Amino acid sequence: MIGKLNHLAIVVPDLEAASATYRDNLGASVTAPVDLPEHGVTTVFVELPNTKIELLLPLGTDSPIAKFLEKNPSGGMHHVCYEVEDIIAARDTLIAAGARILGNGEPKIGAHNKPVLFLHPKDFCGTLVELEQI
Ligand code: CO
Repeated sequence: MIGKLNHLAIVVPDLEAASATYRDNLGASVTAPVDLPEHGVTTVFVELPNTKIELLLPLGTDSPIAKFLEKNPSGGMHHVCYEVEDIIAARDTLIAAGARILGNGEPKIGAHNKPVLFLHPKDFCGTLVELEQI
């Protein structure tokens, strides 16, 4: 069902500092920050030859990543995003297998203007999984 790794996401306490680390110290290409109010995050993408790293900063008062940053004040790995061809078919297969979908179970439009869903970490080896329809 899953295809390519689309990105890994890292929550950071300072988006400018994290962008500078990847751009200046690691020599990567880094995009400008984009606010995603519906997801409660500001994102920057680090573009690598074979995948992307999503740097996430909480946005707004009830950001879903605020607690994560409280527990991990210097930041940390947050989720992995796999590509799928049909997100509704993927969701229905996973629900039938007993997996839990976060939120209301309906895809939202993600950082790349494509539908995304998040899967419960307890059902996937303790890792938050994002599915993105390509
Ligand atoms: Co993501």
